[in-house]
Amino acid sequence: MPRITIVSALLLVFGLAAAGSAQAVDVEKTFKFYCAQCHGLDGKGKGPNVTKDFATTPRNFTDPKEMNKLTDGDIKTAIKDGGPAVSKSELMPPWGKTLTDEEIDALVGYIRKLCQCKGKQG
Ligand code: HEC
Repeated sequence: MPRITIVSALLLVFGLAAAGSAQAVDVEKTFKFYCAQCHGLDGKGKGPNVTKDFATTPRNFTDPKEMNKLTDGDIKTAIKDGGPAVSKSELMPPWGKTLTDEEIDALVGYIRKLCQCKGKQG
């Protein structure tokens, strides 16, 4: 019964993944699921979704020079309400209806880890 074997193999894989540290894995999962196709798994803005017809390339989150220009509030607004809310490209979709506030806060923290910067204060 090959189908059952595949299902149990998948269960094993997901079980092992879930056994990792719960919180850190969660935000990483959210990022991979919703953001990485554009911003890239490593946050450098080169996800598989970014083609040459992308008028604006997604922000490279690992660039502290660029990322320090933003406050945590700017990042949060960009995620929640999309690019146009912070005068950026509409290619950055709004996530306020998809993600909870907690998830968005966690993503802000995750992005700060990627840039290893604290951002503009205020
Ligand atoms: C469909 C592609 C796409 C997806 C998916 C996407 N983004 Fe973006 N994002 C962009 C683009 C393009 C920009 C650049 C906008 C600009 O600079 O004008 C951007 C910009 C941003 C910015 C603003 C950076 C700045 O300089 O103001 C943040 C923060 C951000 N994205 C976070 C996220 C997060 C978190 C997710 C997942 C929940 C996500 N993005 C998903 C395309 C995407």
